[in-house]
Amino acid sequence: MSEAKNYKEALQHSIFKTIAKASANLRLDSYVIGGYVRDHILQRGTTKDIDIVAVGSGIELAKEVSMLLPNTPKVQVFKTYGTAMLKADDIEVEFVGARKESYSEDSRNPVVENGTLKDDQNRRDFTINALALNLATEHFGNLLDPFEGLEDLKSKIIRTPLDPDITYSDDPLRMMRAIRFATQLGFKIEEESLQAITRNKERIKIITKERIVDELNKILLSKKPSIGFKLLEKTGLLSYILPELIALKGIDEIEGQRHKDNFYHTLEVVDNISENTDDLWLRWAALLHDIGKAPTKKFSKKVGWTFHGHEFVGSKMVFKLFKRLKMPLNDKMKFVQKMVLMSSRPIVIASEVTDSAVRRLVFDAGDYIDELMTLCEADITTKNPKKFKKYHNNFKIVRQKMVEVEERDHVRNFQPPVTGEEIMTTFNIKPSREIGIIKEAIKEAILEGEIPNEYEAAYQFMLQKGKELGLIVTS
Ligand code: CTP
Repeated sequence: MSEAKNYKEALQHSIFKTIAKASANLRLDSYVIGGYVRDHILQRGTTKDIDIVAVGSGIELAKEVSMLLPNTPKVQVFKTYGTAMLKADDIEVEFVGARKESYSEDSRNPVVENGTLKDDQNRRDFTINALALNLATEHFGNLLDPFEGLEDLKSKIIRTPLDPDITYSDDPLRMMRAIRFATQLGFKIEEESLQAITRNKERIKIITKERIVDELNKILLSKKPSIGFKLLEKTGLLSYILPELIALKGIDEIEGQRHKDNFYHTLEVVDNISENTDDLWLRWAALLHDIGKAPTKKFSKKVGWTFHGHEFVGSKMVFKLFKRLKMPLNDKMKFVQKMVLMSSRPIVIASEVTDSAVRRLVFDAGDYIDELMTLCEADITTKNPKKFKKYHNNFKIVRQKMVEVEERDHVRNFQPPVTGEEIMTTFNIKPSREIGIIKEAIKEAILEGEIPNEYEAAYQFMLQKGKELGLIVTS
């Protein structure tokens, strides 16, 4: 065991003294453990979640702490897990009794017995998460680090306290957590651990989709998400979670014509977009923007590799994927679908930017035009510096034109300048097909730039269109 280092400065919040007092009252030892200690040493900013291990009853300790606090906060008890939680000011403290767990091969549920602090540290996921700070008055702030977690923090290594096959098989979510921590912290997963994840990958099947998605979201929200996705791919986990991405891997060659590896391209796009947005759903859109390319891939002698309609196919796949992963089937999903569906639109118009094409783009993208442009800019992964500059420049022109067109024509949140009501009274007609035809014709004329997006012009256009349809003005 390493020498007792002291981290008193991590325990300045008054709650720690209260927990120490409550522990003394109950004559038990208690420790701060896990993420709070890890993040303090890494100087990741103050964590609001505190985990306390009591050598004794965690539930009793939580109740005692609550009684010592001025407003006696409510203690939430989770009997099945033997844990309790309370909120004090802006922090959440979770209490658990130190335990020893043993898993039998045929059951996912551990046999839990009371144990020592060391037993409890043993059953934790990683050495960097097993660091504990003593709360006993005479040892206040002393570090208990039986697995050299501090060394691992310094050398940026993810390692399990026990044989990794045991740690991962006991709780397969830890395979995702290992990869998530490696991505968030820029750490390396120790080789033996990485091999154990590969060996145990199939056990990810027993983990609920919600918990898997939580980890995926954390990977996606990291500074460089590709680190995590490459590890998920390398260990084989990705095939169980997002097979749609695995299908994008590889480069085919026919008659000397090759296409790019759309898996690695996608990861570059995700990293690129992460430099410009923290929006989780826009990052999901970047991750999924090309998934339609696998099922639409074709080779023709004339034009080489094509992926016709991949945007449409991809947007349909988004729904199935969200449903399978039990992700929300709400506006967020629709947003991702819309981004995937429109992901090539700005690229198509960028080479020849006309007013009407820009108007149509802004009209179709609606509120999400900025996000769409951010996605398309992130999609530029060419390694040719000349092309890179040219493509970015083209998008700059599109953005400029968008501002000009929007100032003039306000098509972003298009409202028809002439209503259906007005068409009906003007021609004295009942709801009918003609109204739809006229409204559509007005919209088209505005988008094409034939008339400005103004009432008077639209009204005159309506009169003319009505005449063509054989309608008579009655008012
Ligand atoms: N833990 C574990 N195995 C898990 C989940 C958690 O051993 N599958 C232990 C770890 O010691 C961890 C602690 O429980 O540090 C608290 O878990 P949690 O709050 O989920 O994670 P943190 O480590 O605090 O980190 P984060 O908040 O970033 O998830």
